[in-house]
Amino acid sequence: MSKRYVLAAGIGTLACAVSFGAGSANADNVADAIQTCAACHGEDGIPADKTFPIVHGQNRAYILNQLHDFKSGRRKNEIMAGIVAELTNSDMQALARHFAKQQWPANASEPQPADAKKAGAALLEQLNCGGCHHDKYTGDTQRPRLAGQNAEYLLKTLTEFRDKTRGNFITMSAILNGLTDEELKSMSDYLASLPPPVAAAAK
Ligand code: HEC
Ligand code: HEC
Repeated sequence: MSKRYVLAAGIGTLACAVSFGAGSANADNVADAIQTCAACHGEDGIPADKTFPIVHGQNRAYILNQLHDFKSGRRKNEIMAGIVAELTNSDMQALARHFAKQQWPANASEPQPADAKKAGAALLEQLNCGGCHHDKYTGDTQRPRLAGQNAEYLLKTLTEFRDKTRGNFITMSAILNGLTDEELKSMSDYLASLPPPVAAAAK
């Protein structure tokens, strides 16, 4: 077991012990939940582990879809499944609104050599990823922002889409079918190197 997974499992146990209560959205539940989220996704939006995604400033409808998918099991992740189990629809809506309004942070990605950046950018262009995620990879209501996301998380989730262990959007799996680990890494590193937005946009 790698160190990362030990860390994730440790925090997961801790987070699962926190109860959100049931019922409709309740300001106290939501405020408590936000505290819980911060343990992994970061008080200031910088996640506790590089394999965890940035959610501060992610697109609202995408966040909400993912919370529903974790809850229904369409997207499988033990940690997040434990987190959303106790949340109501209204709680999830309130959380999605809250996180979409936060400022997307600068990530701690390693600076890339110019050649590597060029190769990543060229591959994304060739595969027309911008056709859905838009030219600066900022996404829209249904498509997630990729620009400035953690490289390690991007690589993990792209690998899971390709291998169909992330099965909540089959089109992404079809697009990535047959790509090598190196190609996925090259795209992830390039996307992570893109700058954060200047100011939180209204979503
Ligand atoms: C114990 C750590 C932990 C806590 C606490 C936690 N998360 Fe997560 N979250 C994760 C991990 C790890 C992933 C990535 C799952 C994967 O790789 O599929 C994730 C994924 C997500 C995603 C998907 C993001 C994307 O880009 O696809 C959203 C949205 C999210 N979390 C929101 C929340 C919210 C809201 C809370 C609080 C209610 C929360 N998380 C609490 C660890 C945590
Ligand atoms: C047909 C439109 C479309 C194309 C083309 C497309 N994507 Fe996506 N992508 C999506 C949608 C929609 C989602 C959200 C899926 C979900 O709801 O889980 C997504 C999700 C993702 C995610 C997950 C982000 C996160 O935060 O977990 C990554 C990474 C990603 N796409 C990268 C790419 C790359 C790289 C390419 C090009 C090889 C690409 N996408 C091409 C529509 C597209």
